[in-house]
Amino acid sequence: MSLTVNAARLKEDLQTLGGIGRSPGGGITRTSFSAADADARSWYAARCRDAGLSLRVDALGNMLADDGSDPSVPAVWSGSHIDTVPDGGAFDGAVGVVAALEAVRRLAEEGLALQRPLRAAVFADEEGNYSPLFGSSALARGYGRDRLASMVGRDGDRLIDAMSTAGWDVDSALDVAVHRDPVFAFVELHIEQGPKLEAMGTEIGVVTSIIGLGEAVVEFHGRADHAGTMPMTERHDPLRAAADLIAALASIAASTSDAAVVTCGRLETRPGGANVVPSLVRLTLDFRDPDAANVAALAVRLEQHANEAARTHGVGVTWLPDPVIPPMQLDERVRSTISRTAAELGRSMTAIPSGAGHDSQNIAQLAPAGMIFIPSRGGRSHCPEEDTDWPDVINGANVLLNTLAELATRPSAELITDQSD
Ligand code: GLV
Ligand code: MN
Ligand code: MN
Repeated sequence: MSLTVNAARLKEDLQTLGGIGRSPGGGITRTSFSAADADARSWYAARCRDAGLSLRVDALGNMLADDGSDPSVPAVWSGSHIDTVPDGGAFDGAVGVVAALEAVRRLAEEGLALQRPLRAAVFADEEGNYSPLFGSSALARGYGRDRLASMVGRDGDRLIDAMSTAGWDVDSALDVAVHRDPVFAFVELHIEQGPKLEAMGTEIGVVTSIIGLGEAVVEFHGRADHAGTMPMTERHDPLRAAADLIAALASIAASTSDAAVVTCGRLETRPGGANVVPSLVRLTLDFRDPDAANVAALAVRLEQHANEAARTHGVGVTWLPDPVIPPMQLDERVRSTISRTAAELGRSMTAIPSGAGHDSQNIAQLAPAGMIFIPSRGGRSHCPEEDTDWPDVINGANVLLNTLAELATRPSAELITDQSD
């Protein structure tokens, strides 16, 4: 038997969510714990209420919708994130959030006899306004008090201030990893965010592995001076050191591996006057590779180059890394359940690695996890042009729904893919 999502309801949900935090220019800015993020959370809570689901929100803002069944029974989870990058698109995260909610609603409507509950999850701050994959990292590994207290958002606001405004407190946040429910399996639907599926004309990507992710804040400390009177040779200009580092990013990536990528997407100068030599430059580096050893090597090379650049330009430097989020192989059994489901639904599919980070790589530390990709138009993502054709969204949601139905109704407590089970 194959189930189908309610396409009109799913589309309406995606469009309504896509209207929250949208600017006149078309991009969506719904960074975590912002007013727009709060609006999206309220909208999600209302959709859960409409569906007769209760919603639990943990101390760091992760949300879990369920039917009130026993939290000690290992449940099938599905979900993604509701936050966006600044000036992002309507599909990244949102597709997986609305499709998971739709799957919970459809299974309830079908009245299927489930062996285990199905829960829809929304993970906080996946886009790392405060820290990459923040909410799911908390579930997988927890955070120390000092680490939470040190987190600062892209607007310079402290996480703990944003949290207390939103009604959370650090003391309970420290318990998040402890209070997680047991998870039987996790499946996330997501847009590919790259060009491969579209180029191949393939409808479904069955994700094999997710890239390892490092991030560091680099601060160059120099000396403020007058832009007209201080000779060029006597300056301690931290922006020159930053420019030296940024110019080297491509060669540092290329000398590490063919797959390594390094990005500087955030740079600020202080005090920020056009006629003032800066006293401070702060930049973030996002560095990735499918191989954990290469992520570690990137961190070493980038820090070394930052030190050399600081010496060359007579400035100080501070290297402030986030803990690396390890690359992750997704579970073979969940992957083959997805593949078999996609085949039964007549969808074309391919195995595909993910260059983007996903909550799945954290939840994979707690339970067998898999991901379903659908094509991204032109491979564009993290920009207002992000788009996926509507039939592709429906195909992905149907593969998700039937995969979750299979996982939730399978009699065996073992997650096996043998069709004879
Ligand atoms: C998430 O979107 C990431 O890969 O940074
Ligand atoms: Mn995402
Ligand atoms: Mn993203």
